[in-house]
Amino acid sequence: MDAQDMQDDLVKVLITEEQIQSRLSDLATEVWKHYEGKDLLLVGVLKGAVMVMADFMRHLPGSAPMDWMAVSSYGSGTKSSGVVRILKDLDCDITDRHVLIVEDIIDSGLTLSWIRANLDSRSPASVEILTLLRKPEAAKVEIDTRWVGFDIANEFVVGYGLDYDEQYRNLREIGTLAPHVYS
Ligand code: IMP
Ligand code: MG
Repeated sequence: MDAQDMQDDLVKVLITEEQIQSRLSDLATEVWKHYEGKDLLLVGVLKGAVMVMADFMRHLPGSAPMDWMAVSSYGSGTKSSGVVRILKDLDCDITDRHVLIVEDIIDSGLTLSWIRANLDSRSPASVEILTLLRKPEAAKVEIDTRWVGFDIANEFVVGYGLDYDEQYRNLREIGTLAPHVYS
């Protein structure tokens, strides 16, 4: 798919590159203050969080290690069921460490509540969540998300790590897809 096709598939740009970077920069400052003097570990969930992690950690005023998990969530179509299988586990032991999960988007929140419970069971010092995007449904589930970049409407978005059928992840902005892409 070439760049022009990719742009043509967007109905509108929801969040620009500048807005994303500015918000991540603010969040990085806040997060850094919150963990002052503590041993912080950033945990990303593959693959969607790749861009958020890369930019967020470069906005941090200091250095923190990162680790990654990959999970697959069983569900019908685009809805996740909350039944999760670990495809790739963390490389490191998180006992007594302060874990910050870095996510791209929380939709139903089912995947993330499973991941959170799983990490909680490994005796970390703390587990918090940072997500760039949150959809309205996520607000309904019991998931304590300390840092949210943007609350968005309940529509399917792509770009900045988010995919439709593995495409569009490399868009620098976040947009909604044109209906012709689905049909
Ligand atoms: P949840 O368990 O419903 O919160 O599922 C969240 C996962 O679904 C995210 O990590 C994304 O991979 C995917 N997802 C949810 N909404 C969107 C969207 O609008 N665009 C692309 N992927 C999405
Ligand atoms: Mg996805």
